[in-house]
This record gives sequence, C-alpha cells and structure tokens, in this order.
Amino acid sequence: MKQIENILNNYRQAVANCQKIADLLVIKADCLGKNGKLNSILKDLKNLTAENKKQLGSLANVAKEEAIKLFDERLAQLERAETLQKLAKNRLDISLTNEVLATGLKGGGLHPLTQISREVEDIFLKMGFDILDGPYIEDEYHNFSALNIPAEHPARDMQDTFWFNDMVHLLRTQTSPIQIRGMEQKKPPFKFLAPGKVFRNEDVDASHEMAFHQIEAMVVGRDIGVPAMLYCLQTTLSKVFARPVDVRLRTGFFPFVEPGFELDISCQICGGKGCTVCKQSGWIEFCGCGLIHPNVLKAGGIDSNEFSGFAFGMGLDRLAMMLYGIDDIRLFHSGDLRFISQFG
Ligand code: PHE
Repeated sequence: MKQIENILNNYRQAVANCQKIADLLVIKADCLGKNGKLNSILKDLKNLTAENKKQLGSLANVAKEEAIKLFDERLAQLERAETLQKLAKNRLDISLTNEVLATGLKGGGLHPLTQISREVEDIFLKMGFDILDGPYIEDEYHNFSALNIPAEHPARDMQDTFWFNDMVHLLRTQTSPIQIRGMEQKKPPFKFLAPGKVFRNEDVDASHEMAFHQIEAMVVGRDIGVPAMLYCLQTTLSKVFARPVDVRLRTGFFPFVEPGFELDISCQICGGKGCTVCKQSGWIEFCGCGLIHPNVLKAGGIDSNEFSGFAFGMGLDRLAMMLYGIDDIRLFHSGDLRFISQFG
C-alpha cells in the first residue's frame, strides 16, 4: 500500500511539473502502461491473501482512476497553453487599422469609379431594375450584327475595335451587347442596368482612354416611348448629382435605336454659364439613347408589334469627372496615390 501511495505521489508531482505533452505521455505510460509501475504491483497480487488482494486491488484501482483523471486534466491544460502560444506567435490583430492610420499609412478604399457605379446601381435597383453583367471578350454577333450593325456598315468604324486574330472575337467596344444577352435571358416586360469596362483603340488624351466604363440601361415593355426614357434619365441624373439637372435631347445616330438621341446635361462645372469644360456652351454631351430598333428586338426574339423599349449608354468616367471636377480621364488608371487617396 505504501508503494502505491509512493508511486501516486511521484506521479502527481511529475504530472504537475510536466510542461510538454510528449513528456506527459511518457509519464502516463510509466505509471499506467501495460508494463507501468501500477500494473507491475498488481501482477504481484497473486502472492497475497484473499483479504489483502481485495484491499490492494481496490486501492490500486482508485489510484489508477486518479492517475487517469490527473493526466486528462493536465493534458487539457497543456493543450490550451500550446494553442495560446501558437495564437500569440501568429497574432493577427484585426483592430490594427487605427494604429496604422495613426502612423500616417492609409487603409484601402474603393476606386472612385467603383463607388459611383455602385451609387448609380443602387438608384436603379430601388426602381426595380436588375443588374446584368457581360463578358469583356465578345463576339462580332453580340457587339455588332445583333445590334443592327452589319458587316461593312460604316458604324463599325465609329468604334475603333480591338479584334482577336480570328476576326470573330473582340474586346467589347460598348456595353450594348449586354442588351442582346439580356434579351436572350429575359421575357418582356423587363428592365436592367449593365455597368462595365469597354475598350476602344483610341488615341489617348485628357478625355479619351483605351479602357473606359459605361453603364447601359434597357427597358422593354408595352407602350414605352421617349417620354418614359427622358423621365428615367432626368430623375436618375438628378439623384446622382443630388440636385436638379437640366437635360436636352439632340438627334443622334446609333444603329440599334430609332429614333436615336444624344442627351446633353447642363454643365455641372459652371452651372450652365459656360466654361472651358463645356466649351462655353453650358451643355455637356452625356450619353447616347433612343428607342430600341425593331431589328434589335427581333434579334432578341421579341415581337416589336407588341413590345417597345428604350436604352441608353452613359460614360461612367465622364460622370465621375463631372461629379468631382476631374479634368483628365487618365488620372483614373494612373495609380497615382495623390489622386486616388482623395476618394477614401
Ligand atoms: N453604345 C453606345 C455607345 O457606346 C451608346 C448607346 C447605348 C446609344 C444605348 C444608344 C443606346 O456610344
């Protein structure tokens, strides 16, 4: 009995002092294992009287139970300590932002074009529009033919196109191909907005980039005409600019609309009085729009005797320039932090 008491005492101490899980396992095996100290005592039981056997046997069992309990407890403690140690070593401090800001380093933010695009999307979502997306790499059918721009049509030259070698695929020159993709998915009546990047092989200057952004809108239903289009454009633009915006329509040619228009807005830089940005006219050319051409509806499988609609495509970069008084489109992709960090 004394021996068992000794073994247990030593075990208690060893377990309490143990600092490593591997060591703990060795200590456990040494005491409780098949050839461990407790078992070797039990092996000797056969030489004892029945009475003593019983007494020692139960003592040994109590000792075993305690030893297992001590092991389990210490193991849990050591595992916890190990986890905490790992956590301390691989510390990920998600509250660091303020400290970083205090050092003068800036946190990240959304690009101004992303911000404005999302604002415009929100305005249209509230009016029940869906948001659609389309591929940058388009085919000749969606970007041109289905939009009533057949091969050899001079309108193809209006948009200097980046063609792939197969002369079938191209980088989309406008978001209008999403009109075709939208009609392929939807049954009228429907209305959706399609924002995205477009590409044209243009000479780059303060107002032209090879990659820029458009927001396309398409509304198809019964009895939809120019007044609905004008109302939609004027109300949304007033929301975007957060003040009443004057608009005017001039006839314009786009093969996929008939009648087609150019929409001008009162110059938001000078308030319409005339400045260098609006070339003293007080108006800024803002977007192309019009009623969807019957051939386009037909390409989308829509009966133009039953349904009509309007579409417009506005330049997001130009919108951002107007909103923030930016005079050079190249700044958007300049990666210049002095510019970009002004937009939080
Ligand atoms: N896709 C035309 C452009 O890029 C704009 C437009 C869209 C015009 C929809 C009319 C209707 O110039």
